Amino acid sequence: MAIHRLLASLVIVAVGPVPSINPSMPVSLQSLLRITDTCTMRSTVYERFSSDEVTDKMLEEASELFSEHYGVWAKQAEQVEGPHGKAGEHVRLSKERLRKEHLPGDTSLYVRVTVDGRLAGNALAARWTANGRRICWVSQLVIHRDYRGFGLATGLLKQLKVDGDDVYGIASCHPAHILAFAKAFGSCIHTVSLDFIKQNAASIMKTSPVEYIRDAKLRGSLFDPSDKTGLVSGIDTRFFVDHKEPLEALAWVKKNREWPLGEMLEGDEFLLIVEATRPQASR
Ligand SMILES: CC(C)(COP(=O)(O)OP(=O)(O)OC[C@H]1O[C@@H](n2cnc3c(N)ncnc32)[C@H](O)[C@@H]1OP(=O)(O)O)[C@@H](O)C(=O)NCCC(=O)NCCS
Repeated sequence: MAIHRLLASLVIVAVGPVPSINPSMPVSLQSLLRITDTCTMRSTVYERFSSDEVTDKMLEEASELFSEHYGVWAKQAEQVEGPHGKAGEHVRLSKERLRKEHLPGDTSLYVRVTVDGRLAGNALAARWTANGRRICWVSQLVIHRDYRGFGLATGLLKQLKVDGDDVYGIASCHPAHILAFAKAFGSCIHTVSLDFIKQNAASIMKTSPVEYIRDAKLRGSLFDPSDKTGLVSGIDTRFFVDHKEPLEALAWVKKNREWPLGEMLEGDEFLLIVEATRPQASR
């Protein structure tokens, strides 16, 4: 790790274009990128780590970021979560749960973005194989409130792209998560294949090492034509986070973008699964 840190600091002070990525570099170095905003001269650094490179200190910072900036419990949460799910209180995740539940095995990934040295956002992704295909599933993503709306979520998700992964997945109640995900993985929201989700969601999710994904029930008219709730593609996770913010975002998105995933219901999350886009082989 010492050499990774040294290189990280060298990249921060370096001036010039984003360094090119050499596939033989360790995974954390391959994704170490620097972007300097030429107006403010803010230094934005993206880093990627495989689960065995993630230290307790990193997860402690990730836990703090999540616990302060993710969101608050809804009124139904206490029934499911018990006393720590009190309405209006911040949803929290300890560093131990982050490691155990969101970074399973040794191929999961942690990506983070710092702005002028301050942790501005991070994402965790579990990776596994389902029916011979490599799956990369974003199990957690949060951006600090001071840094939202600048493309950091999209930039972070792009750091999760690894050669050899075939399919990317996410479940989230926040439409901005979904838009960032669609953009990061080479598509945009109005071109995603609902048919691919319909055909593959069950078989991919039932093999997930992440419990809440494995146990989730598919919801929406994509999976059950008699479903009249307005949800098209989603899962029921019984995760009752307050939906005020995601619903405001959804209203905006529906007005200003095409939105194929339908309505958001309490305790549910939108579900998006896409195939990796591969560069066309030259003749
Ligand atoms: C959702 C979240 C990760 C977005 O991070 P971000 O860095 O602001 O996202 P980006 O700037 O990369 O934007 C991604 C897309 O979402 C859109 N978007 C971002 N915030 C939005 C909002 N509040 N309302 C509507 N659209 C929004 C952007 O326009 C962009 O779409 P586009 O590329 O088509 O223009 C961040 O707001 C967050 O961490 N929220 C809290 C976490 C959460 O999900 N809580 C759930 C319970 S509240």
